Amino acid sequence: MSSKKSTPSHDHDQVHQPPKEFAKKARIPSLAAYRKLYQKSIEKPAGFWAKEAKELLWRKKWSKTLEWKAPFAKWFVGGRLNVCENCVDRHAEGARKNKAAIIWEGEPGDKRVLTYGQLQREVCRFANVLEKKGVKAGERVLIYMPMIPEAAVAMLACARIGAAHNVVFGGFAADAIVDRLEDSGATTIVTADGGWRRGKVVPLKPVVDEALAKYRHVQRVIVVKRCENEVSMTDPRDTWWHDEVAAVSARHKAKAFDSEHPLFLLYTSGSTGKPKGILHTSGGYLTGTYSTCKYIFDMNDEDVYWCTADVGWITGHSYIVYGPLANGVTQVMYEGAPNFPDFGRFWKMVEEYGVTIFYTAPTAIRAFIKAGDHFPAACDLSSLRLLGSVGEPINPEAWNWYHKHIGGGKCPIVDTWWQTETGAILISPLPGATPLKAGTATLPFFGIDAAILDEAGKECKPDQDGRLVIRKPWPSMIRTIHGDKERYRKTYWSDYPGLYTAGDGARRDKDGNFWIIGRLDDVLNVSGHRLGTAEIESALVSHPAVAEAAVIGRPDDLKGQAVAAFVTLKGGFDESVGLREELRGHVGKVIGAIAKPDDLFFTPGLPKTRSGKIMRRLLKELVTTGTVAGNVTTLEDFSVVENLQRQISESRARQ
Ligand code: WTA
Repeated sequence: MSSKKSTPSHDHDQVHQPPKEFAKKARIPSLAAYRKLYQKSIEKPAGFWAKEAKELLWRKKWSKTLEWKAPFAKWFVGGRLNVCENCVDRHAEGARKNKAAIIWEGEPGDKRVLTYGQLQREVCRFANVLEKKGVKAGERVLIYMPMIPEAAVAMLACARIGAAHNVVFGGFAADAIVDRLEDSGATTIVTADGGWRRGKVVPLKPVVDEALAKYRHVQRVIVVKRCENEVSMTDPRDTWWHDEVAAVSARHKAKAFDSEHPLFLLYTSGSTGKPKGILHTSGGYLTGTYSTCKYIFDMNDEDVYWCTADVGWITGHSYIVYGPLANGVTQVMYEGAPNFPDFGRFWKMVEEYGVTIFYTAPTAIRAFIKAGDHFPAACDLSSLRLLGSVGEPINPEAWNWYHKHIGGGKCPIVDTWWQTETGAILISPLPGATPLKAGTATLPFFGIDAAILDEAGKECKPDQDGRLVIRKPWPSMIRTIHGDKERYRKTYWSDYPGLYTAGDGARRDKDGNFWIIGRLDDVLNVSGHRLGTAEIESALVSHPAVAEAAVIGRPDDLKGQAVAAFVTLKGGFDESVGLREELRGHVGKVIGAIAKPDDLFFTPGLPKTRSGKIMRRLLKELVTTGTVAGNVTTLEDFSVVENLQRQISESRARQ
């Protein structure tokens, strides 16, 4: 952190061997054991994955493990299963019936525990509600919820009846809901009146109403009463969750679905303005999330696991709902902000529930560092045995702090690299096997053939930067972009024929560890959330005052990247502080608060090449260093840059 002295660099290079006590009990107890199984898994990936899949409950066994017609994969062909049955009934009808599945805490401090038996009853009730209301297998259901158990219940109920859910993060605005409805064709919405965040109610149903004023094909909206905030209900379209579930049975017979039956759509940002609907299917996705939880988090029946993500992101899908529940683990779920009522909240919860595995994002860790060591120091964190990190590269300062102040120097940290598209973790340490170094996601998971290639497609030498690719299909991989096979092929499979390109730059060190450098495309990673620069630009240009906009990411101590916007106004509009705030608010309204530009500069023109391309590289350099040192000979009008340079230095002087 800028306010603190950074740790001397030799600390960063320190290798942390897996603690002996940990390794003794771990499924994979040594690097040699990892290497042996990895080698086998990479020679015959289908064999490895089939063995994993066999640990799940199938109603009908598959006839072929993999059918690969690049870039389209089918896993466990001909197999039939019910994903929800695997996550819920399997445990509820066995020894885990009265084991806590979800220990939930609301932000105001209210608490609920759902055992696997109770979770089964809730899920069955809601599955009955959906079916009674006419929701059919194959349909899409949009879920816009706070972090309450009903969010997981709604997802599992969809899975149970074969409807694909599309969870939309509760921080997104009405237009984001409209875009997703239009693309997915969902006719059912599950939402809540609101959720608690930083002591305030974040209204959700009113945002759904705003969206439905623009998109009129939704037939039913089911609303959980959470915050008792005032909402309007449109009869007969809108009904209350509690009324609906009271009127149906708590038993529901789950049907089996094809292994390739759609499980969910989750929209993510790409390099164009239109978010992509990533499609995940049933058998393969469940196998990937199940297996990675088992080996990477080394989950056991005694564990109390807590992933602090929101169900609106892929991490919430794979590592709150499907993976942990498929493993029958007990997990903590929390509704609100990490700093409510103060930055001690998480640590108090770790102490209270005896959390053993804790999974969070580097951006949160950086905020904790800033808040002060006294918050974790005031709590007994000795129950923790394993820590995880996800969403962006973890900087060594954050890694070392996490290791020392949260893990007490004794917990391995699994730095897990993956994406919405990969469905499950692909590169990560195994906690009982892999030597750790701060900042590297280390080695590929079983069956994952990861490599780094140069522009020409040749494998890079150690320490040479290149592009991260995956050379063989894996079960939890994206199947397509909803409604756009061509975009799917072009986005992920066209850089090198037959290979999946992740969009990330990376390098491997001489020990084979993968160091992820960051996105190579126009995607920002703000507090671990993916945002397309084009999306934010098009939100800005949708304001009547804006003629043109360019958006870039600049390094930020807390968020990893912050959003910097450059805006040219239309004639007749004057630059003012008021308009600047209005435009920031406008982006918040169109996309959601996370996309609001941190800096917004007015400029009479954008720096462009003579052929009219916006020079983002130059803008980036300007906001990062305050000047332009690189080659500007292709620039059309240098005065634009001088003007911006002046503004940026003035704005720095004000800070
Ligand atoms: C980045 C989140 C470095 C990466 C699960 C990737 C990471 C994007 C890591 C996907 C990590 C995720 N180290 N970078 N451990 N994990 N990323 O789809 O740039 O929201 O492409 O999935 O986050 O973001 P997404």
